[in-house]
Formats: sequence, C-alpha cells, structure tokens
Amino acid sequence: MNKPIKDSLGRPLRDLRISVIDRCNFRCQYCMPAEIFDDSFQFLPKSELLSYEEIVRVSQIFADLGVKKLRLTGGEPLLRKDLPILIAALVNIEGIEDIGLTTNGVYLKKHAEKLMMAGLQRVNVSLDSLDDELFKQMNGRGIGIEPVICGIRAAKEAGLGVKVNMVVKKGTNESQILPMTRFCKEEGITLRFIEFMDVGHTNGWQLKNVITKMELLEMLQTEFDLEPVEEEYYGEVAKRFRHKGTNTEVGFITSVSESFCSSCTRARLSANGSLYTCLFNGKGHDLKSVLRSDMTDEDLTELILSLWNDRDDRYSDERAAGTLKGQEKIEMSFIGG
Ligand code: GTP
Ligand code: 5AD
Ligand code: SF4
Ligand code: SF4
Repeated sequence: MNKPIKDSLGRPLRDLRISVIDRCNFRCQYCMPAEIFDDSFQFLPKSELLSYEEIVRVSQIFADLGVKKLRLTGGEPLLRKDLPILIAALVNIEGIEDIGLTTNGVYLKKHAEKLMMAGLQRVNVSLDSLDDELFKQMNGRGIGIEPVICGIRAAKEAGLGVKVNMVVKKGTNESQILPMTRFCKEEGITLRFIEFMDVGHTNGWQLKNVITKMELLEMLQTEFDLEPVEEEYYGEVAKRFRHKGTNTEVGFITSVSESFCSSCTRARLSANGSLYTCLFNGKGHDLKSVLRSDMTDEDLTELILSLWNDRDDRYSDERAAGTLKGQEKIEMSFIGG
C-alpha cells in the first residue's frame, strides 16, 4: 500500500525521527541544562519506552505512508541497549532508503562496527569545540574531546558516513568556528553549523546569542574558498557549500535566520511513543496507547494519516515573521532535535 500523503500546507511526509531514549550522558547547556536535568529529574521508566517491536511496527506504517528516511536520536541513542537489533529490523522495511543516527559520539568507538554491520548508513556527531576545557564546560559533564574524536574516526573506519554538527552560541564557542572548520576539512568530514535554537523552555535562548549563517560565512570566507552546492533533495535541512577543489562540504542549519518550514517533511516520535509534527510544537499525539490497544495497523494508518493531513506547523517561519503566539514547546532532549 502506498498512499500519497500531504499536510494542510501541501508538504509530504518523508522523514521520521525516532527518539529511542530521553536520557543523555551530557548536559549541554543549550539542550539539557544541568540545573534542571539533575539527579531528581524524572526520566522515562523503561516500561514507558516503546519496545523495538513497537518502533518497527510504527515505522512500517510510516514507510507505507511515504517515509523514506529514518533517523534515530535521543537523548543519546547509544545509551539504549542493543540498538543494532533495532537497526537490523528497520533496514528490512520496504521503502526505507536511508537510516541515520545522531549522537554525541562518546560511545561510538565501542559501537561503530556493530552499527554498520546492522545496516546503519550514517552518523551525525555533535561536537561544539576542539578546545578541551571549553568542551568540558559545554557538555556539563567534564568530558574531554578525546572519546568523541575517537568515535568519529572509528565511525569512518567502519565505513559509516560521518557529519559533524556544531551548535554555535555567541559568547560561548565562536572561537571554535575556524579551528573546527580546519579540522573537518583536513579529515574530509562535512561540518554543519547549527544556529542556536529556541527549543523547549529551559535553555535560556535569546536572539542575541545566535550567530547567523551570514555571519558565519563571512568569518569562514576570511580563510576558506567556499562555493555553494545545489540542493540534493526536496526539504534538505542544511544550506550546503563546498571547499573549492575538494568534495568536503560545510553546511548551515538556519532555523533562525532562514527558516525552512515550507518544505518540512519531518515527523518526530518521542521515546514514549508520541508523535510530534514540529520540533517546536509541544502537543504530542499518543501512539503508544494505540500500539498497546487492540487497534489494527489499518486503524493506526488512518490515525497517522489524519494527523499529518491536519498539520499546519511552521514555527520558525512564524518566529521570523514575529507572529508566534507563545505555544507550549517540547524539550530538545525529549524529541531528539
Ligand atoms: P541529515 O539527514 O544528515 O541532513 O540529518 P539532519 O540534519 O536532518 O539531522 P540532525 O539530527 O543531524 O540535525 C541537525 C540539526 O538540524 C539539529 O539541531 C536539528 O534539531 C535540526 N533540525 C533537523 N530537522 C529540523 C527541522 O525540521 N526544523 C528545525 N528547526 N531544525 C531541524
Ligand atoms: N539549538 C540548536 N541545536 C541544538 N542541538 C541541541 N540543542 C540545540 C539548540 N538549542 C543539536 C545537538 C545535536 C542536534 C540533534 O541538535 O547538538 O547535534
Ligand atoms: Fe548534548 Fe545531545 Fe545530550 Fe542534548 S542530547 S545534552 S545536545 S549530547
Ligand atoms: Fe519543520 Fe517545525 Fe522545523 Fe519548521 S520549525 S522546519 S515546521 S520542524
């Protein structure tokens, strides 16, 4: 069965981002500030997490509705046990062409080979600084860059596609923009700069802390010769450039300065099985109860279809237009970015 599916703004459903766990070994200030995500913070108990069977069932339904790309996220997805078992099952779903994982990289060295063998194609590794002290501060756990660099190298050696994500926050890590670009160019890895975003309610976001793509490009052009690269597919998140004369790219994820809602094809599934139709829309639709009831796959398909048909989210566009109405949001670590 292949039903074409569009939302109320004509956007197809192509990607499903699946959070497999809400916990993380880091406490990045822009995502899980340590003051809030402390020892008393209630993370989801295991019984609330979707099982691998449930994730596969729901992914199969999404694939039938047109999803081609899956991305596993967290928290930190490598904290979930036996992730390769899930990946091996997702790979077998008809229609799924691409499976990626977004990770902080600390446990990548340990798992890269098994992830690759299971059928994972790509990893996006977050790294905000090459300065050890600054990195320790930013991740809130005093962990240096060494395990992350080893993770990146292990992933490359295992044959996984690797990109590096760097969130840039003014007043925190702008000193790292050029060193990170040099490092990734030398390693032949795509580096994506992410504009600091106002996800959730806890990260103290202020516009004045955002460094925009234009500012970043200006800085990069003092040292590097970059040329724009054509969009590869509809709804691509990053604006891409290439170091001239190489195949190595630099990208910009411009949720703040150049929003990209008009081609947003992404649905998000939280670790406890709620469906979110926008990174900034805190209204989840509980699929877990449905999965755990006697509803059939057909019922579930109809439900997801109607949720996507009703979708009218365009948060970043509204932020840019100044027309936000102060809606309830969701934490980044809960929905996986
Ligand atoms: P690729 O398939 O490799 O391009 O992955 P990706 O960039 O979609 O995934 P990743 O998890 O690496 O996300 C990079 C950054 O883009 C994160 O900060 C995400 O929160 C952000 N991002 C991804 N999708 C969206 C989106 O639909 N809206 C907004 N505002 N940000 C997004
Ligand atoms: N703004 C921008 N990017 C963020 N990430 C986490 N929180 C934020 C934020 N507030 C990034 C992570 C990871 C990706 C999933 O999202 O660093 O690379
Ligand atoms: Fe940092 Fe990613 Fe963990 Fe959030 S989920 S605290 S961004 S490592
Ligand atoms: Fe999609 Fe929402 Fe991001 Fe806009 S803000 S691109 S609608 S997830």
